[in-house]
This record gives sequence, structure tokens and C-alpha cells, in this order.
Amino acid sequence: MATVYAVGVGPGDPELLTRKAERILRSVDVILAPVSNPSEASVALGTIREFIDAERQEIIVHQFPMTSDKARLVPAWQEAASLIAAHAKAGRSVAFITIGDPLFYSTFIYLLRILREQWPHLPIEIIPGISSINAAASEAALPLVEGDEKLVVIPATAGIEQIAAALNHYEAVVLLKVKPLYAEIIELLRTSDRERRTVFVERVGTPRQKVLTDFNEIAAYSPDYLSLMIIK
Ligand SMILES: C[S@@+](CC[C@H](N)C(=O)[O-])C[C@H]1O[C@@H](n2cnc3c(N)ncnc32)[C@H](O)[C@@H]1O
Repeated sequence: MATVYAVGVGPGDPELLTRKAERILRSVDVILAPVSNPSEASVALGTIREFIDAERQEIIVHQFPMTSDKARLVPAWQEAASLIAAHAKAGRSVAFITIGDPLFYSTFIYLLRILREQWPHLPIEIIPGISSINAAASEAALPLVEGDEKLVVIPATAGIEQIAAALNHYEAVVLLKVKPLYAEIIELLRTSDRERRTVFVERVGTPRQKVLTDFNEIAAYSPDYLSLMIIK
């Protein structure tokens, strides 16, 4: 049985891959890349293009719909896990690639559960990646937390009340998946006097990277899915 790897490829800059990630990606037989929309390119795959050999390695792009509807998600997870297990059982090593880190709000977490449950003997190795949060803080040269400060990470999908509560309890708040709740977040930051303490970062590590610190610019901006906010 060959090994299954989950490889964190970082936020989008090929230079932010670890040497271990690069070595494994160059060596595996099969690379499975997630995509949410079949008409869009996989960000993770775009990040590692220079490390793979399409002549020798099999590249599979698998769609995971961008929805919270379990009736659509579970079959996609099951199909990907079965594919991974089939290759590994046939002796072909597989790398599932993921943006950022594989155990940090990643589809791989769901695949890991299925693989462990249904194929408990499958060897699985997880290669950590640089999370978008660390890359964003670096680009903005913004210390995330120091001393006794506490940091909380909230996917904005958790709702505006959770975000409001977090702003009252933590010195640093990171909001992921801000797009669907953007207008409400902007309003909350205005009313809670956080205008000058907010940094917005989109597509960090990619040629389309945007780092905004001016609140008027942040408020006027229309973000895409790959964007986050750090509020101190
Ligand atoms: C499903 S989570 C994936 C997190 C990822 N595993 C990580 O470690 O960064 C997706 C969210 O992460 C954030 N994100 C991921 N990549 C990003 C990037 N390159 N620039 C800014 N935000 C990013 C966005 O908030 C996006 O909505």
C-alpha cells in the first residue's frame, strides 16, 4: 500500500512551500487538487505547477461544491476518499493538495475522517503549510499577538453576533470567508470604532494580492472568496 499525503501548499506563492512539500510533490504518482467551481482553476494546483511533471504524474482535479449542504458535500468527499484509497491500494502514492495548511479549515479534514474510518490501515502523512493568516500578517507587517494577548479565528459564516462578541473578548480577531457578510462586518467595525485597527488582505502570496489598511478603501472594496481581515 502506498502512502497518502496531505500537502499544505501555503497561500499561493510557490516560494512559500516547504522543502518537504516540494520533495513529496515531485515524488508522488498522483496529485489530487480540489476545485470548488469547475470553470475556475485550482489555486492549490496553480501554486505547485513548477514542481510537477504532467508527463509522469497523474493530475486529478476534483470538484467540492462551495456549499454547506451536506447532501451535496458528503458524496464529493466520499468520491475523493475512494479515489485516493484506490490509488494507494494499487501501490500509487497520492498527494491531496490544499491551500494554506491541511488541518486548518480544509476539505482534507473531512477526507481524513473518511479515510481513517473506511481504510484504517492506509498510511497517511500530513505536511503542514503556511496558513493565509500568517502570510497576511507578514505582508501587512502586522504583529498578530504578543505577550498575553489572545487571538481568535472566526469564519464569518459563523455570523455577525459571534464576530461582535469576539471583538469584545480578544485583542486580535481574524475573520476568514468574509465575502458573504462583508457589508455587515464593515458596519460592525464602524460602530465599534475599529476602523483604524483593521487590515484587509486578499489573495495573499499571489500576483493578485491586495493589502488594504485605509478603512474607506476597505469599506468600498468588493472582496472575493480568498480574502480575510485582521482586527487588532
Ligand atoms: C477554507 S479556508 C482555507 C484556509 C487555509 N487552509 C489556510 O490555512 O489558510 C478559506 C479561507 O481562507 C482564507 N484564505 C485562504 N487563502 C487565502 C489567501 N491566499 N489570501 C487571503 N485569504 C485566504 C480566506 O478567508 C478564505 O475564505
